[in-house]
Amino acid sequence: MLEQDFKKLNKRMLSCKKCDLRKTCNQVVPGEGNYKAEIMFIGEGPGKKEDELGRPFVGTAGKFLDEMLVVIKLEREDIYIANVVKCRPPKNRDPLKSEVKTCWYWLEEQIKTIEPKLIVTLGRHSMNRFLPKEKISQAHGNFFQKEIVGLGKLNFYVLYHPAAALYNGGLREILIKDFKGILKVLDKIENEK
Ligand code: URA
Repeated sequence: MLEQDFKKLNKRMLSCKKCDLRKTCNQVVPGEGNYKAEIMFIGEGPGKKEDELGRPFVGTAGKFLDEMLVVIKLEREDIYIANVVKCRPPKNRDPLKSEVKTCWYWLEEQIKTIEPKLIVTLGRHSMNRFLPKEKISQAHGNFFQKEIVGLGKLNFYVLYHPAAALYNGGLREILIKDFKGILKVLDKIENEK
């Protein structure tokens, strides 16, 4: 897809009023990064800071994510980051099933456009959208291939959410360790072609 078309998709997202989340949030947060990226990170939904700035992962969890990217020698410009829902749920509550379902239209369009080689899910909500039977305590740090209706066979790597790991030393260590596995998984995908 051309950059122009990708910009058009973002513009359409910005004017979305498909669900009630748009009534309470400040702005839509479509996503950010390289639309030709091989790796797409998918989080849960914008928090307070993201809602203020219109950009994904720019709060404390985002800073931690940036630190982990540095460890594996990646920059934001190398990847694409989006969320399962594009508008901040009030008081950072979990997104409702109906909101995830409504917002799927946009995430599906983003995945079709970016065609990532690997989708890295951040947290339970993101994992559950694609791998509903998995438990994050078992699935984290693992690679999955799954046929997703409308998108075909996709590659996934499951991580804990950086916000969950921020104040939990044990989870933090696990997340950092799992994070380092991203490039190995990408290599494996490329070598299997
Ligand atoms: N948490 C998320 O899941 N997404 C963001 O964009 C920020 C925090």
